[in-house]
Amino acid sequence: MNNQQWVKRDLSVLWHPCTQMKDHENLPLIPIRRGKGVWLEDFNGKQYLDGISSWWVNLFGHANPRISEKVKNQLDTLEHVILAGFSHEPIIELSERLKAITPEGLSRCFYADIGSAAIEVALKMSYQYWYNQGRTKKTRFITLTNSYHGETLGALSVGNVALYKETYKPLLMEVITVPSPDCFYRETGESEVVYTQRQFNHMEAALGRHHEEVCAVIVEPLVQCAGNMRMYDPIYLSLLREACDRYGVHLILDEIAVGFGRTGTLFACNQANITPDFLCLSKGLTGGYLPLAVVLTHEYIYQSFYDDYGTLKAFLHSHSYTGNPLACRAALATLDIFKEDPILENNQKLAKAMKTATAHFVDHPHVAEVRQHGMILAIEMVKDKTTKTPYPWQERRGLRVYEYGLTQGALLRPLGNVVYFMPPYVITPEEIEQLAKIAWEGINRATCD
Ligand SMILES: Cc1ncc(COP(=O)(O)O)c(C=O)c1O
Repeated sequence: MNNQQWVKRDLSVLWHPCTQMKDHENLPLIPIRRGKGVWLEDFNGKQYLDGISSWWVNLFGHANPRISEKVKNQLDTLEHVILAGFSHEPIIELSERLKAITPEGLSRCFYADIGSAAIEVALKMSYQYWYNQGRTKKTRFITLTNSYHGETLGALSVGNVALYKETYKPLLMEVITVPSPDCFYRETGESEVVYTQRQFNHMEAALGRHHEEVCAVIVEPLVQCAGNMRMYDPIYLSLLREACDRYGVHLILDEIAVGFGRTGTLFACNQANITPDFLCLSKGLTGGYLPLAVVLTHEYIYQSFYDDYGTLKAFLHSHSYTGNPLACRAALATLDIFKEDPILENNQKLAKAMKTATAHFVDHPHVAEVRQHGMILAIEMVKDKTTKTPYPWQERRGLRVYEYGLTQGALLRPLGNVVYFMPPYVITPEEIEQLAKIAWEGINRATCD
């Protein structure tokens, strides 16, 4: 069967995520036959360079033999078991290893299956911690503008990207929203550190005003990924940690997208040398193989739920596939690669190659900014470069880049008017150049009228 035949069958039964299905009257849907390394191959034999790690999950390439082999072995041993009352080898080993590699103090792992579910866990755990202490007035959360934490109703509530949130607003809990340190809006000549620091004043004020009723602050460290890859300086995290401690409010760090080396360090919060009260991980946790998510927290949180059953202090939260052994095995294989290979060192070279390959983009008449944190590089297209006036969203300029990329064999899926690279770590400098060339041509075509 060729692409066309698969697409016909697909479009008669599927409803794809984050998609206006009518787009597919014109936009090609690509059925993928197989993947190898950074390459995906469709049923007509055409190849696509996966420049966005298939929604930021893939770390070491598609069909990585080192991960596949371990998952295959696990498959013949134990595919799944209930995690309440039962346990298994991969999850115990994974928890020990996560404790060892995450910031000091995080000692308890609570598992879920997807990123959004990890956010729900962290929100509920934070709330119930205070509840268990008799602090029943603490029921609210502080979040940043332009943040994204997933799309289940709790996660959507603490997110702020209007495109995903607006429609569902009547269903969501009310949160306290504070202006983001997003450095795109800094004054000309103002450094990122100074702007980030200045933006922290809003957070300080919100904490001062609301700390009695706030359970936790939730942020994506360093990069607001779904919020158009907007970035900020680590100083914000240091200031936030100190302020949360001072005001008696938890800090939830959502490293679902930025964890596992994306920003240059294993975890983004390493750059501020801080430990959150709750650390949410998913996506790259399994190298992009299987859904798995985890919330790491401290012993003091765990102990506040630990009591006789009759006190009703237990955390009675569960998902059927929590801690699936196949997914845990994929996660262990992923951690093995980090241990055996100099991944972060190699990534520094790749990050440099991304920087070099896109150095000329800043001179493009419709590029306002090229920004980067490690293995995430974003190019912001604008209508007017001097005023940073965006193109109206209705013009869908990013989509034009996407469509051009597909014709040239690249999977670049811009966020609005922001084209970005977030490739698997097995990409080569030559492939980075190839991606940059396609992005450049795509941006030229998308901005020529
Ligand atoms: C920062 C962040 N948090 C949470 C999520 C939600 O994860 P999932 O899509 O697995 O529910 C995402 C997904 O893109 C994300 O980028």
